Amino acid sequence: MTSRTDLSDLSLAEKAALGSGADFWTTEAIGPVPALTLTDGPHGVRRQTGATDHLGLAGSEPATCFPPAVGLANSWDPGLVRRVGEALGREARALGVDVLLGPGVNIKRDPRGGRNFEYYSEDPLLTGRLGAAWVEGVQSAGVGASLKHFAANNAEHDRMRASSDIDPRPLREIYLRAFSHIVRTARPWTVMCSYNRINGVPAAENRWLLTDLLRGEWGFDGVVVSDWGAVVDRPASVAAGLDLAMPGGPGAGDDRVVAAVEAGVLAEAEVTAAAANVARLAERVRTTRTPAGADGAGASPGHADPGAPSEGTAGSGVSGALADTHHRLAREVAARCVVLLQNDRDLLPLTPGRRIAVIGPFAAEPRYQGGGSSHVTATRVDVPLDEIRTLGGDAVSYHPGFTGASGEADAAALREEAVAAARAAEVAVVFLGLAADQESEGFDREHLELPAEQLELLAAVVRAQPDTVVVLAHGGVLRLEPVARLAPAVLDGALLGQAGGGALADVLFGVVNPSGRLAETVPVRLQDTPAYLNFPGENSHVRYGEGLFVGYRWYDARDLDVCYPFGHGLSYTTFGCSGLSAEPAGDGFTVRLTVTNTGTRPGREVVQIYTGVAESAVQRPVRALAGVAVTGELEPGASEQVSIEVPREDLTYWETRTEQWVLESGTYRIWAGASSRDLRAETDIDLAGDALRVPITIDSTLGEAMADPRAAAALGAVFGEMADSMGGGDALGTDMMRMISSIPLNRLALFGMAPEQLDALLAAANADGPDPHGPAD
Ligand code: BGC
Repeated sequence: MTSRTDLSDLSLAEKAALGSGADFWTTEAIGPVPALTLTDGPHGVRRQTGATDHLGLAGSEPATCFPPAVGLANSWDPGLVRRVGEALGREARALGVDVLLGPGVNIKRDPRGGRNFEYYSEDPLLTGRLGAAWVEGVQSAGVGASLKHFAANNAEHDRMRASSDIDPRPLREIYLRAFSHIVRTARPWTVMCSYNRINGVPAAENRWLLTDLLRGEWGFDGVVVSDWGAVVDRPASVAAGLDLAMPGGPGAGDDRVVAAVEAGVLAEAEVTAAAANVARLAERVRTTRTPAGADGAGASPGHADPGAPSEGTAGSGVSGALADTHHRLAREVAARCVVLLQNDRDLLPLTPGRRIAVIGPFAAEPRYQGGGSSHVTATRVDVPLDEIRTLGGDAVSYHPGFTGASGEADAAALREEAVAAARAAEVAVVFLGLAADQESEGFDREHLELPAEQLELLAAVVRAQPDTVVVLAHGGVLRLEPVARLAPAVLDGALLGQAGGGALADVLFGVVNPSGRLAETVPVRLQDTPAYLNFPGENSHVRYGEGLFVGYRWYDARDLDVCYPFGHGLSYTTFGCSGLSAEPAGDGFTVRLTVTNTGTRPGREVVQIYTGVAESAVQRPVRALAGVAVTGELEPGASEQVSIEVPREDLTYWETRTEQWVLESGTYRIWAGASSRDLRAETDIDLAGDALRVPITIDSTLGEAMADPRAAAALGAVFGEMADSMGGGDALGTDMMRMISSIPLNRLALFGMAPEQLDALLAAANADGPDPHGPAD
């Protein structure tokens, strides 16, 4: 889409001003380009009409707080995420917001990462599918998305300076893959560049990232906006492809942009291009909100929006029917995000009417979102205890059990009281988790532990009441081995948003059958984690030394035990999977299988498809997620045929020698799994991949040349002579080729090869035309 707004009357200074905000959340209105309002954030609209900030400290208008990404991702369901996006888009419009700053799609590299709660997964495919659905949903309402934080922003420590030092393959295959998928398929209107540096170059000044890759390779045609405060050298950022520096104000550097053009160090065309991108964004907002053929009056950005839901305004937040409808949606979504980690003796679901001791402050004051820029002022909050009472009946008692947020009461007395209540009840439901001050944007955690007093309480409760259920609230991964050992049943809520209390009650009592699956591995211990020795780095450098082996890829490659694997999640019913098949389709393949509810309750199954290449010429994970599908609600005995497309781009690796994506030829194993460690069926498919032709140069080794049919043919004669000159035998009883294969061609002169022989060899090796040993036509 090219800009139709005529900017030819604008001065250089006006074009520079279009490239930075007017204030904290809005852009400048200049000439034909109206002002736009941007605001956070991924799980709710944080519309500030008073004081402004990017750390969630000042208030914002009430809006629905949907499950943050850490919870939402556990649904594994792009369809559900799209519905959340649509609702967010409606609220954004109601609150006068043109661009919503999300989704956050950075990969969860290390469980200590402070924004773990704002990101989806350790897996790029799952992240990409969910992020694309979010973007499509928001933008369908005429509100732009802002894909963030581009790129490799995987820690909070030193986040405004640190360089993420990443090799090309993990950078492409792990850290950029979700961004690429979302840009190409969901076409976000904006992308937010991150604070950090990537291999030494600040994201905001990284022309390779913002222009060559994003626009050149992926075809992005929207606005690149900075993270709030990411721009240091505005002219350098404009030259790199940054369109909009935020927040705006006197420090945004419009004057420096003008001076740089006047000094001849920045091309005016770059400033014009950035202004045109901002103008195009305003057009997008307007045209998406204006029905075809309508005159568009009142639907433009920066003006009252009569098409927006009336139950919400920028001055009073989301209210009325819109708030009610979205709260119901938030509850439905949250229930789909709850993960049943274990359920010994089928302790869950609970039967209404039993004597239940509910223990833990999080039952009365739920922890439902993370801290920082994404923090939403919820329209209302479901209290788990109240919801348990609503579904469970009158015999529900409440006991804080530990100090938690209140902090003052005597821990031993609280524990004793809760333990006595657990003993007297028929079942105990213990809420454990991390308090708001233990995790947030802005800092990373140092460990994965639950507070000791919580584990001591749990141990005492379980001794008194073997029928104990644990309900977890947390944004970052926890070491759950002690919980798993003590409690027969564990429900993981992660963070569930404002309606999480009702959703937990729905799952506890079986109103909803749990279908959430872990979007990140729960390790046995911190020392097992992939980046343990490389996090958070030193002296502003973070070495991504684990390479491709992030999350389950690491635990599988090293054959390490985990506490709960990626993809894990139980159900109150059981599912069978049959008829797994794979057939070539397009430039990838299609997997088909039948899922049958073999249990006694209705429920959904999350189908997980993994692939691996056993005989690969390159380093690869043992297996990687290649497709996801969530069935509908299946009645007992009912079946659903599931079909999942696995396109070529999800199978390729980044070939560093030729700098291209390559589909390797060979046999691809396909598994259908209930988790990355619970593989239920498998099949194989043979794929004819890309012809990879790595140029043979004087730096290539003999081994590499021998692996290339043309070079090998050209070398054959030389080798014959060399072997003869060495006596023609193998006096040492070793394989000569293995001994000499690491010798680069440029050393062959030392062993008697004439320069013209080498030239002829290189010419033959790199000649176009049919491969001398290739298949006959
Ligand atoms: C965060 C972004 C956020 C922005 C605006 C920054 O601190 O990194 O995610 O969108 O503030 O609040």
